[in-house]
This record gives sequence, structure tokens and C-alpha cells, in this order.
Amino acid sequence: MTRWAVLGTGMISHQFVPDLQSVFGDDSVIVVWGRDEARTSVFAERHGIAASTTDLTEVLRRDDVDAVYIATPIASHAAIAIEAIAAGKHVLIEKPMGSSAAEIVQIFDAAEAAGVFAMEAMWMKFNPLHVDLVQRVKVGLTGEPRSISATFGMPTPPNGRAWTVERGDSAVLDRGIYAVTLAQWVLGEPVAVDASGVVEDGTDVEARATLTFTNGARADVACSAIGFLDQSATINGTLGWITIEPMFWAGTTARVHAGSVEAIMHSPERVVRPREGSGFQPMLGSVADALAAGERQVARHDRAATLAVARTLDVIREQVFDSNRDHEIGG
Ligand SMILES: NC(=O)c1ccc[n+]([C@@H]2O[C@H](COP(=O)([O-])OP(=O)(O)OC[C@H]3O[C@@H](n4cnc5c(N)ncnc54)[C@H](OP(=O)(O)O)[C@@H]3O)[C@@H](O)[C@H]2O)c1
Repeated sequence: MTRWAVLGTGMISHQFVPDLQSVFGDDSVIVVWGRDEARTSVFAERHGIAASTTDLTEVLRRDDVDAVYIATPIASHAAIAIEAIAAGKHVLIEKPMGSSAAEIVQIFDAAEAAGVFAMEAMWMKFNPLHVDLVQRVKVGLTGEPRSISATFGMPTPPNGRAWTVERGDSAVLDRGIYAVTLAQWVLGEPVAVDASGVVEDGTDVEARATLTFTNGARADVACSAIGFLDQSATINGTLGWITIEPMFWAGTTARVHAGSVEAIMHSPERVVRPREGSGFQPMLGSVADALAAGERQVARHDRAATLAVARTLDVIREQVFDSNRDHEIGG
């Protein structure tokens, strides 16, 4: 059994740990780390974790920890991951794996040199609904894919905490990543990107981008932390289309308009795939299988796939920041 340390006691760790315990076993989470002693021990108590600490070195020194789940702010992922890898731990890192493609290369290079497992926790790619729908698209149910639209926007933060550059907060990295991951899962890596957006206090808080692919297909993606955007996604092809209902990245329902004129126009197939646990279990099942087989990546979301998305996110952010610099100088 893989034994885990959880790094970070925030919102997503609270949702993640029960799924980790469900897949790897009730006693699989050995210790939790956070910066605040009281918060960390409350977290441990709530989730039945025997140990809690504010000392990261202590966690990484433990022989009874095989793997770490990193769920801290984005800007801290790479440094923590590289420290954990140096201590010989497998790393499962919340999305985005790092703040840039360059950071993600560093993490994978370090993991490969150390012979440990590394993965971005992109659970959407393991969600039964998405796996089913993408499979249908890949076998041609909706014909040749021509366009994808996916948007994810809601005012942030719901808890009143301001987004900051220091934490690495970013609408593109936090939300746009799901839209770009979906688009690239279906269409591959884009050949061109055209993006613009809004920067506030050094943080990209809204972005829109059109990604163009080799065969002329395109994806229109948008994300926002300052307003709502429709949270659905649509994959359009030459023989029909599929709409994933809100919240598309965590969806359980979709409508498939394909297969017959009647189905396309009037009575689409409604596909429902209930969530397993908090939704992370299918991904964690793949992690468990990979670890049991001695594999160091999970094929469906490996280094190549993770980096291909990260490169696109880099370009989108670069253009968003550039477009705002133009505004500042009146250009
Ligand atoms: N998979 C998903 O569905 C999903 C959903 C939301 C977020 N996420 C990802 O999960 C990660 C964490 O998100 P979250 O919403 O849980 O964040 P969060 O609520 O801000 O929690 C971050 C955690 O990291 C700790 N931490 C460690 N170093 C820190 C630092 N330098 N500054 C601030 N906090 C620090 C925090 O506080 P203390 O140390 O103070 O206890 C807290 O325990 C991000 O990568 C995010 O993109 C994934």
C-alpha cells in the first residue's frame, strides 16, 4: 500500500483526502503538513490522520511516507515538489503542476532522475463522463472535430481572500487550464494562439483565447475570476455535437446530438455518469495501478500531455499581459 503525506490544508485537500483514503485505504494518509499548527491538527482530526506537523522537512524525512499530495498555492508547487522528489517521494501535484512549462520540466526532470512517480492531478481526464465522451469523439461519433468552446468563470474568491501574485493566483492557470486541457485532449496541441484579457494587481483575472489547430479546427476558451461565464463546454464535429453541462470540468451530465437526424435536432442522448466520491477516485485508481506496476507516469496524463497544455497556458498568459501593457501605454 502506498502511504501518503498531504501537503496543504486548504479547501481542495479537505475534498481530496476522503477519496485518497477510499482508494488507498483508511490508514494510507500518514501525516498532514500545513503552516498553521491549529489548522493542521484540526485537519488531521477531521480526517482521521494520525500525525500533523508544520515542519515540512520532518514529513519528507519519514520512512513511512512513500508519496506526497501537494495542494498548496500554485507558486509553491515546484519548490515543494522538487524538495519532496529529492527526499525520494512520489509526487501527485494539484493543477497546474507548476506556474509555467519551464517549472513543470524541472519537476519531471527531477522525478525521472530520482526514479519517482510524478503527475499533475488533472482529475477531469479520468472523470467517467469525460472519458466516455472523448472516446465517442475519437471513434468518430460526431465526425471530424471542428470546434470546441469551453468557459469557466466565477467571481473569486468566494471566501473573500484576495488573489495575489505571491501565491501564483491566475485565472488562466486555475480555470483556463480545464478548457485548454479539454480542447487539447480532443484536438492535440494548437499551432496558433490569440488571447487577450484583464490583469489586476499583476494577476491575470480574466482571459479569452482562440486556439487554432493544424486542420483548421479551433477552440474558443475563456476563464474569469471577476465574473460568471457560462460553465459548459461544447465539442462540435461534422456529424453532430456534444455539450457537457455545467460545471463542464467536473461534469456528470452531457447531451450528445449525433447518430440520427432526430437525435441531432430534437432528442439528444442524455449521458449521466454519477461522481465517484468527490470525483478524484477514478484518477486515484489510475495512480494506484501505475504505482503498483512500478510505472512513473500515468499514460493518459503524462509528461507530454501536461507540458503541451502548460505551453499553451504560457502563451495565453504572455498575450494577456502584453495586451494589458499596451493599454497602459495607450498603444
Ligand atoms: N482539483 C480541483 O478541483 C481543484 C479545486 C480547487 C483548487 N485546486 C488546486 O489546488 C491547489 C490549492 O488550492 P486551494 O483552493 O485548496 O488553495 P487554498 O485554500 O489557498 O489552500 C492552500 C493550502 O496551502 C497552504 N499553504 C502552504 N504554503 C502556502 C503559502 N505560501 N501561501 C498560502 N498558503 C500556503 C495553505 O494554508 P496554511 O499553510 O496556512 O494552512 C492551505 O492549507 C491549487 O493548485 C489549485 O489550483 C484544485
